[in-house]
Formats: sequence, C-alpha cells, structure tokens
Amino acid sequence: RGASLKALILSGGEGSRLRPLTHTRAKQLMPVANKPVLFYGLEAVREAGIDRAGIIVGETRAEIEEAVGNGSRFGLDVTYIEQEAPLGLAHAVLVAESFLADEPFVMYLGDNLIAGGIAGLVEEFRQHGPNAEILLAKVPNPEQFGVAELDERGRVRSLEEKPSRPKSDLALVGVYMFDSSVFESVRRIEPSARGELEITDAIQDLVDRGLEVMSHQVHGWWKDTGKPEDILEANRIVLGTLDVPPRAALPDGSRIEGRVALGDDVEISRSLIRGPAIIGSGVRLDEAFIGPYTSIGDGCRLSRCEIENSIVMEGSRLEDLPRRVDGSLLGRDVRVTRSEGKPRAFRFVLGDGSQIRIPE
Ligand code: TTP
Repeated sequence: RGASLKALILSGGEGSRLRPLTHTRAKQLMPVANKPVLFYGLEAVREAGIDRAGIIVGETRAEIEEAVGNGSRFGLDVTYIEQEAPLGLAHAVLVAESFLADEPFVMYLGDNLIAGGIAGLVEEFRQHGPNAEILLAKVPNPEQFGVAELDERGRVRSLEEKPSRPKSDLALVGVYMFDSSVFESVRRIEPSARGELEITDAIQDLVDRGLEVMSHQVHGWWKDTGKPEDILEANRIVLGTLDVPPRAALPDGSRIEGRVALGDDVEISRSLIRGPAIIGSGVRLDEAFIGPYTSIGDGCRLSRCEIENSIVMEGSRLEDLPRRVDGSLLGRDVRVTRSEGKPRAFRFVLGDGSQIRIPE
C-alpha cells in the first residue's frame, strides 16, 4: 500500500490569531528562518517518500498557489482543493474525498512544524496498517489542545477537543494518517459547538466503530504556529539548528559572531551580527546590531538600531531607534523610524489589530 500514499496538506483557514499579519498574508506563509512555514511541511512530506499532495486552500488560494506552484520544486505533484469556508479539519477531508480516491493518506496541518519530520510515523503506518494513526506530544497545558486517552497498548480509547478536565497530558500534533474508513466517519459526525466538523470527532467515531486507531508519540519539538509568540519560538528553534561555517572578519569595522546565514548582495557597515541569525538577500545594515534568534527578510534596511529575537519581513526599514527591539514580529514594508520635530510624540499608522508595546 506504500506506493499509493498521498498527502493532504491543510492551508486554508483564517489565521485570526495572527492578525494583522494575516490580513495581508496567509498564515502558512509566515516566514520562519526566512522560509514559509508551509514549505517545512511540504519538505517533510516528500522526505517521507510521498510524491502526490493535495493542498486545501481557502480565500488565500492565489497566494499559496503562487508560492508553491505545481510542487515540482519540492519533488511533489500538487493538486489544489478549494474549501469554500474553514468549516473544520474533518470538513477538509470531506472536500478532498475525490482527490484521495479511497487511498490511505497523511493529513498535515500547513502551519505546523515537527522536528525530524514525519518519515518514521509514515513508515510505522505503512507497516502496521491501522485504520488511523495520530501523532501525540506531552504538553503542560492539555486543555488547550485535542487530548487523547490511550489503552495499555497505546491504542486510542477516546479523544476530546480542548477538554476542561483533560484525561491525559497527550495533545494531538497536527499530523494524522487515515485509510478510507475515515470518509464514513466524517459523514457521520455533526458540527461541534464552534460550528466546525472536528477531526477529533471523526477519529472518535472510528474508535466507536471498533476500528484500529494507533498513536505515535513525538519526542522532539513541534510547534503549531498559530500565534505570534509561537512563530517567534519556531524561529528560535529553527535558527538554533542553523548550520553555517564561521566567517572571516568583515571590512569596515563590522563583525559576525556565531552562526549567521547571509543572503546575496548583503551590505554591512559598522554593524555587529550575533548569531544564530539569518539575513536575507539585498539587506543593508548600517550601525546596526542584529542579535541572536533574528530573521531579517530580503531587502530590509536597518540603520542605527538594535534588534534581537525577532522576525522582520521583506522590505522593512528600521532607523534611528533609541532602544533595542526585542520579541517582535514585523510584516512586509514596515517602517519604524524616529519622529523629528514637534510635538515629541509617538506617531503611528497602524492597521486593524496591530499591537504596540512601549516600555516605561
Ligand atoms: P487552525 O489553527 O485550527 O485554524 P485557523 O487557521 O482558522 O486559525 P485561527 O484559529 O487563528 O483563526 O487550523 C489549522 C490548520 O488547518 C491551518 O493551517 C489552517 C487549516 N485549516 C483548513 O485548511 N481548513 C479548515 O477548515 C480549518 C479549520 C483549518
């Protein structure tokens, strides 16, 4: 059955918790170490030996299609599947039914990052051939996740979405494997209180029908990049694994310390970059400090300012800042500069849902 395995990658949804960034960019395209989150998932699917992927898309379809194309860059043959509204993960399975054509598949949430990929999980599913297999991780706050209760053999006994009294500390990670029995289950379930067809309900239905649902525990890190602090954490984790050789000293009084990935045509003067950090192509730094765990997108300019533990997306400009920027997520073409003249005041042009935090 191995050869016919497909991937279903979920890249629709609204990303409401990432506004205002998701007013203008799909949440799955948020950059982590200067690469869209979705690309890590596509790479993980390919590494697991899968070469056909359906990508569920919603209102951000055009953008996702432009970024991923026909998938050949990832070694994947990609089909786009439109979901008219984000009506739930099980709803996505329903709309993908004809693409999946009764073949077993791995479902991967397009905003999730999993250390070490999914090849081991996929192999286990191929060998044992259960009806479904879910990925679990121990978390300190299970009430915020789908939670699984297992029997003594590690098979799933029950599942609950965001339970107020969790039966275990095992949360569902955003990767699931199914055979064609899931289609009957997604048809049998009803929308939940939040109006979505929940994948946890569909899996519970498989269990209730006496089918075999296996579990696999992840021991490395995984991240659902749903909120700004999650994206910053994912960025720290990925930059922490950056593998670049140390560099020779730079002319013009600039220095690079630790692991720093530099794009093409970067101009650096009188600056210090302390890795791990990634600097995109065409970036210009002048009297800037780029501290650890920072990703600077293509074409940004930073002058007389300091930043660390942050993500700055393409084309943004930071100039003459009296304090260091930390723990920040800046979209594309953002300007943060000094205000001149009177009154000595903050001057903002902020989109809906922007967040600004000012120290005393
Ligand atoms: P979620 O994080 O559950 O949902 P969301 O994208 O709507 O975000 P928010 O809660 O901040 O509004 O979705 C997980 C992934 O699955 C994400 O990549 C979006 C995708 N998705 C779909 O493709 N279709 C759907 O119906 C849902 C609910 C999510």
